[in-house]
Amino acid sequence: MALFKENLLAGQVALITGGGSGIGAGIAQLLAQQGARVALMGRRVEKLEEVASTIRSAGGSALTLPGDVRDYAHVEASVKRCVEEYGRLDIVINGAAGNFPVPASQLSSNGFKAVMDIDLLGTFHVCRAAFEPLSRQGGCIVSITATQAFVPTMLQAHVGAAKAGIEKMTKDLALEWGSFGIRVNTIAPGPVAGTEGMARLAPGGMAETLKKNVPLQRYATIEEIAGGVLFLVSPAGSYITGAMLLMDGGLALLGGRIFE
Ligand code: COA
Repeated sequence: MALFKENLLAGQVALITGGGSGIGAGIAQLLAQQGARVALMGRRVEKLEEVASTIRSAGGSALTLPGDVRDYAHVEASVKRCVEEYGRLDIVINGAAGNFPVPASQLSSNGFKAVMDIDLLGTFHVCRAAFEPLSRQGGCIVSITATQAFVPTMLQAHVGAAKAGIEKMTKDLALEWGSFGIRVNTIAPGPVAGTEGMARLAPGGMAETLKKNVPLQRYATIEEIAGGVLFLVSPAGSYITGAMLLMDGGLALLGGRIFE
Protein backbone atom coordinates (compact mmCIF):
# COMPACT_ATOMS: atom_id res chain seq x y z
CA MET A 1 0.00 0.00 0.00
CA ALA A 2 1.43 3.39 -0.96
CA LEU A 3 1.46 5.62 2.11
CA PHE A 4 2.33 8.79 0.23
CA LYS A 5 1.58 10.33 -3.14
CA GLU A 6 4.27 9.35 -5.69
CA ASN A 7 7.26 11.54 -6.52
CA LEU A 8 6.71 13.85 -3.55
CA LEU A 9 10.35 14.94 -3.61
CA ALA A 10 10.92 15.30 -7.36
CA GLY A 11 13.60 17.90 -8.08
CA GLN A 12 14.98 17.84 -4.56
CA VAL A 13 18.38 16.75 -3.31
CA ALA A 14 18.96 14.97 0.00
CA LEU A 15 22.19 14.32 1.89
CA ILE A 16 22.03 11.42 4.35
CA THR A 17 24.82 10.68 6.82
CA GLY A 18 25.03 7.11 7.98
CA GLY A 19 23.41 6.30 4.64
CA GLY A 20 25.32 3.05 4.20
CA SER A 21 23.36 0.95 6.66
CA GLY A 22 20.39 0.61 8.99
CA ILE A 23 17.98 3.50 9.38
CA GLY A 24 20.11 5.86 7.24
CA ALA A 25 20.06 3.41 4.32
CA GLY A 26 16.29 2.93 4.67
CA ILE A 27 15.73 6.68 4.66
CA ALA A 28 17.96 7.12 1.59
CA GLN A 29 15.99 4.44 -0.26
CA LEU A 30 12.61 5.95 0.56
CA LEU A 31 13.65 9.52 -0.31
CA ALA A 32 15.10 8.26 -3.60
CA GLN A 33 11.90 6.29 -4.35
CA GLN A 34 10.06 9.56 -3.86
CA GLY A 35 12.15 11.25 -6.54
CA ALA A 36 14.94 12.90 -4.54
CA ARG A 37 18.50 12.61 -5.79
CA VAL A 38 20.46 11.39 -2.79
CA ALA A 39 24.03 11.72 -1.52
CA LEU A 40 25.13 9.10 1.00
CA MET A 41 27.86 9.95 3.49
CA GLY A 42 29.51 7.38 5.77
CA ARG A 43 32.79 5.82 6.77
CA ARG A 44 32.47 2.51 4.94
CA VAL A 45 32.64 3.05 1.21
CA GLU A 46 31.58 -0.50 0.30
CA LYS A 47 28.37 -0.14 2.34
CA LEU A 48 27.61 3.21 0.71
CA GLU A 49 28.17 1.72 -2.73
CA GLU A 50 25.84 -1.20 -1.96
CA VAL A 51 22.98 1.14 -1.03
CA ALA A 52 23.73 3.48 -3.94
CA SER A 53 23.64 0.63 -6.43
CA THR A 54 20.27 -0.59 -5.07
CA ILE A 55 18.92 2.93 -5.55
CA ARG A 56 20.37 3.21 -9.06
CA SER A 57 18.97 -0.20 -10.06
CA ALA A 58 15.53 1.06 -9.07
CA GLY A 59 15.99 4.06 -11.38
CA GLY A 60 17.10 6.58 -8.74
CA SER A 61 20.14 8.79 -8.54
CA ALA A 62 22.70 8.29 -5.74
CA LEU A 63 26.14 9.70 -5.02
CA THR A 64 28.54 8.25 -2.42
CA LEU A 65 30.59 10.49 -0.16
CA PRO A 66 33.01 8.47 1.99
CA GLY A 67 33.98 10.40 5.11
CA ASP A 68 33.71 10.77 8.86
CA VAL A 69 31.25 13.29 10.31
CA ARG A 70 33.71 13.92 13.17
CA ASP A 71 36.04 15.65 10.72
CA TYR A 72 34.70 19.04 9.61
CA ALA A 73 36.90 19.03 6.52
CA HIS A 74 35.27 15.75 5.36
CA VAL A 75 31.79 17.15 5.98
CA GLU A 76 32.49 20.44 4.21
CA ALA A 77 33.97 18.60 1.21
CA SER A 78 30.98 16.23 1.09
CA VAL A 79 28.42 19.04 1.09
CA LYS A 80 30.44 20.86 -1.59
CA ARG A 81 30.64 17.75 -3.78
CA CYS A 82 26.90 17.10 -3.40
CA VAL A 83 26.06 20.64 -4.48
CA GLU A 84 28.55 20.51 -7.37
CA GLU A 85 27.04 17.25 -8.61
CA TYR A 86 23.36 18.00 -8.11
CA GLY A 87 23.29 21.81 -8.12
CA ARG A 88 21.42 22.25 -4.85
CA LEU A 89 20.67 20.81 -1.42
CA ASP A 90 17.17 20.67 0.07
CA ILE A 91 17.12 17.93 2.71
CA VAL A 92 19.73 16.87 5.26
CA ILE A 93 19.35 13.74 7.37
CA ASN A 94 21.70 13.19 10.30
CA GLY A 95 21.70 9.42 10.61
CA ALA A 96 25.34 8.76 11.54
CA ALA A 97 25.67 7.51 15.12
CA GLY A 98 27.86 5.43 17.36
CA ASN A 99 26.72 3.30 20.26
CA PHE A 100 27.85 0.59 22.62
CA PRO A 101 26.35 -0.40 25.97
CA VAL A 102 28.68 0.15 28.94
CA PRO A 103 28.24 1.00 32.64
CA ALA A 104 29.15 4.64 33.21
CA SER A 105 31.48 3.47 35.99
CA GLN A 106 33.55 1.66 33.35
CA LEU A 107 33.27 4.12 30.48
CA SER A 108 36.57 5.80 29.56
CA SER A 109 36.87 9.48 28.78
CA ASN A 110 37.69 8.57 25.20
CA GLY A 111 34.69 6.24 24.93
CA PHE A 112 32.37 9.06 26.06
CA LYS A 113 34.09 11.45 23.66
CA ALA A 114 33.85 9.02 20.70
CA VAL A 115 30.04 8.94 20.93
CA MET A 116 29.73 12.69 21.61
CA ASP A 117 31.95 13.39 18.61
CA ILE A 118 30.04 11.17 16.19
CA ASP A 119 26.52 12.04 17.33
CA LEU A 120 26.55 15.60 18.65
CA LEU A 121 29.60 17.22 17.09
CA GLY A 122 29.01 15.31 13.84
CA THR A 123 25.42 16.55 13.67
CA PHE A 124 26.57 20.12 14.28
CA HIS A 125 29.22 19.77 11.57
CA VAL A 126 26.67 18.61 9.01
CA CYS A 127 24.09 21.28 9.90
CA ARG A 128 26.76 23.99 9.85
CA ALA A 129 28.21 22.95 6.50
CA ALA A 130 24.74 22.56 4.95
CA PHE A 131 23.42 25.93 6.15
CA GLU A 132 24.53 27.98 3.17
CA PRO A 133 23.19 25.70 0.39
CA LEU A 134 19.97 25.04 2.34
CA SER A 135 19.40 28.75 2.83
CA ARG A 136 19.52 29.42 -0.94
CA GLN A 137 15.99 28.09 -1.47
CA GLY A 138 14.99 26.84 1.98
CA GLY A 139 15.04 23.25 3.11
CA CYS A 140 14.94 20.98 6.08
CA ILE A 141 17.10 18.97 8.43
CA VAL A 142 16.01 15.85 10.31
CA SER A 143 18.32 14.32 12.91
CA ILE A 144 17.75 10.79 14.17
CA THR A 145 18.08 10.76 17.95
CA ALA A 146 16.74 8.13 20.38
CA THR A 147 14.56 7.89 23.47
CA GLN A 148 17.78 7.80 25.53
CA ALA A 149 17.77 11.59 25.04
CA PHE A 150 15.09 11.91 27.72
CA VAL A 151 14.44 8.46 29.25
CA PRO A 152 17.08 7.49 31.83
CA THR A 153 18.57 4.33 30.33
CA MET A 154 21.02 1.84 31.84
CA LEU A 155 24.43 1.62 30.11
CA GLN A 156 23.69 4.61 27.89
CA ALA A 157 24.96 7.72 29.77
CA HIS A 158 27.21 8.71 26.85
CA VAL A 159 24.51 8.14 24.21
CA GLY A 160 21.83 9.92 26.26
CA ALA A 161 24.09 12.96 26.69
CA ALA A 162 24.83 13.11 22.96
CA LYS A 163 21.22 12.61 21.85
CA ALA A 164 19.91 15.13 24.43
CA GLY A 165 22.43 17.60 23.02
CA ILE A 166 21.09 17.05 19.52
CA GLU A 167 17.51 17.56 20.72
CA LYS A 168 18.40 20.88 22.33
CA MET A 169 20.59 22.06 19.47
CA THR A 170 17.74 21.26 17.06
CA LYS A 171 15.48 23.73 18.85
CA ASP A 172 18.21 26.39 18.82
CA LEU A 173 18.88 25.91 15.11
CA ALA A 174 15.15 25.92 14.35
CA LEU A 175 14.91 29.27 16.14
CA GLU A 176 17.90 30.79 14.37
CA TRP A 177 17.29 29.37 10.90
CA GLY A 178 13.50 29.67 10.55
CA SER A 179 13.87 33.05 8.88
CA PHE A 180 16.15 31.43 6.27
CA GLY A 181 13.37 28.97 5.37
CA ILE A 182 15.15 26.06 7.05
CA ARG A 183 13.11 23.69 9.22
CA VAL A 184 15.00 21.62 11.78
CA ASN A 185 13.44 18.59 13.49
CA THR A 186 14.30 15.24 15.03
CA ILE A 187 12.89 11.76 15.11
CA ALA A 188 13.42 9.83 18.33
CA PRO A 189 12.99 6.13 17.60
CA GLY A 190 12.67 3.41 20.21
CA PRO A 191 13.88 -0.07 19.24
CA VAL A 192 14.08 -0.63 15.50
CA ALA A 193 14.34 -4.13 14.03
CA GLY A 194 17.28 -5.04 11.83
CA THR A 195 19.69 -2.33 13.02
CA GLU A 196 23.22 -2.62 14.33
CA GLY A 197 22.14 -0.53 17.33
CA MET A 198 19.53 -3.08 18.42
CA ALA A 199 21.92 -5.98 17.91
CA ARG A 200 24.33 -4.19 20.25
CA LEU A 201 21.80 -3.00 22.84
CA ALA A 202 19.43 -5.95 23.17
CA PRO A 203 21.14 -9.13 22.06
CA GLY A 204 19.54 -12.59 22.25
CA GLY A 205 16.86 -13.14 24.89
CA MET A 206 16.85 -9.48 25.95
CA ALA A 207 15.29 -8.61 22.61
CA GLU A 208 12.22 -10.78 23.30
CA THR A 209 11.72 -9.32 26.80
CA LEU A 210 12.00 -5.80 25.46
CA LYS A 211 9.56 -6.52 22.64
CA LYS A 212 6.92 -7.77 25.09
CA ASN A 213 7.29 -4.58 27.13
CA VAL A 214 6.74 -2.21 24.21
CA PRO A 215 3.08 -1.11 24.41
CA LEU A 216 2.68 -1.91 20.69
CA GLN A 217 4.34 -5.32 21.41
CA ARG A 218 6.86 -5.11 18.59
CA TYR A 219 9.85 -3.17 17.30
CA ALA A 220 9.57 -0.51 14.62
CA THR A 221 10.67 -1.36 11.12
CA ILE A 222 13.28 0.75 9.36
CA GLU A 223 10.59 1.58 6.79
CA GLU A 224 8.33 3.04 9.49
CA ILE A 225 11.08 5.36 10.72
CA ALA A 226 11.85 6.36 7.12
CA GLY A 227 8.12 7.11 6.69
CA GLY A 228 8.31 9.50 9.64
CA VAL A 229 11.22 11.28 7.98
CA LEU A 230 9.30 11.53 4.72
CA PHE A 231 6.36 13.06 6.55
CA LEU A 232 8.61 15.72 8.12
CA VAL A 233 10.43 16.63 4.90
CA SER A 234 7.29 16.57 2.73
CA PRO A 235 4.81 19.42 2.30
CA ALA A 236 2.77 17.75 5.08
CA GLY A 237 5.48 18.90 7.49
CA SER A 238 5.82 22.42 6.12
CA TYR A 239 4.84 24.20 9.36
CA ILE A 240 6.79 21.87 11.68
CA THR A 241 10.11 23.06 13.04
CA GLY A 242 11.95 22.61 16.33
CA ALA A 243 9.93 19.45 16.96
CA MET A 244 10.72 15.91 18.02
CA LEU A 245 8.66 13.14 16.45
CA LEU A 246 8.65 10.28 18.96
CA MET A 247 8.41 6.91 17.18
CA ASP A 248 8.82 4.34 19.92
CA GLY A 249 5.61 2.26 20.00
CA GLY A 250 4.86 3.83 23.39
CA LEU A 251 8.01 2.55 25.12
CA ALA A 252 8.94 5.90 26.68
CA LEU A 253 5.62 5.79 28.57
CA LEU A 254 7.23 3.20 30.83
CA GLY A 255 10.14 5.47 31.77
CA GLY A 256 13.41 3.59 32.12
CA ARG A 257 11.88 0.41 33.60
CA ILE A 258 11.76 -1.51 30.37
CA PHE A 259 13.13 -4.90 31.41
CA GLU A 260 10.69 -5.62 34.27
N1 COA B 1 32.67 -0.63 25.78
C1 COA B 1 33.42 0.32 26.37
N2 COA B 1 34.20 1.21 25.70
C2 COA B 1 34.22 1.09 24.37
C3 COA B 1 33.46 0.12 23.66
C4 COA B 1 32.66 -0.77 24.44
N3 COA B 1 31.91 -1.71 23.87
N4 COA B 1 33.69 0.27 22.33
C5 COA B 1 34.57 1.29 22.23
N5 COA B 1 34.86 1.80 23.43
C6 COA B 1 35.79 2.87 23.73
C7 COA B 1 37.20 2.41 23.36
O1 COA B 1 37.74 1.61 24.37
C8 COA B 1 37.91 3.75 23.19
O2 COA B 1 38.28 4.29 24.44
P1 COA B 1 39.80 4.12 25.04
O3 COA B 1 40.69 4.81 24.07
O4 COA B 1 39.73 4.78 26.35
O5 COA B 1 40.03 2.64 25.10
C9 COA B 1 36.82 4.64 22.63
O6 COA B 1 35.57 4.01 22.92
C10 COA B 1 36.94 4.83 21.14
O7 COA B 1 36.95 3.54 20.57
P2 COA B 1 37.41 3.29 19.07
O8 COA B 1 37.12 1.88 18.72
O9 COA B 1 38.79 3.81 18.87
O10 COA B 1 36.46 4.29 18.31
P3 COA B 1 36.07 4.36 16.83
O11 COA B 1 36.08 5.77 16.48
O12 COA B 1 36.84 3.43 15.98
O13 COA B 1 34.57 3.77 16.85
C11 COA B 1 32.57 3.57 18.13
C12 COA B 1 33.51 4.49 17.37
C13 COA B 1 33.25 3.18 19.41
C14 COA B 1 31.28 4.32 18.45
C15 COA B 1 32.25 2.29 17.33
O14 COA B 1 31.43 1.47 18.11
C16 COA B 1 31.63 2.59 16.01
O15 COA B 1 32.32 2.95 15.07
N6 COA B 1 30.32 2.43 15.88
C17 COA B 1 29.62 2.76 14.63
C18 COA B 1 28.49 1.87 14.42
C19 COA B 1 27.50 1.93 15.54
O16 COA B 1 27.82 2.19 16.67
N7 COA B 1 26.27 1.67 15.18
C20 COA B 1 25.19 1.72 16.10
C21 COA B 1 24.50 3.01 15.95
S1 COA B 1 23.12 3.15 17.04
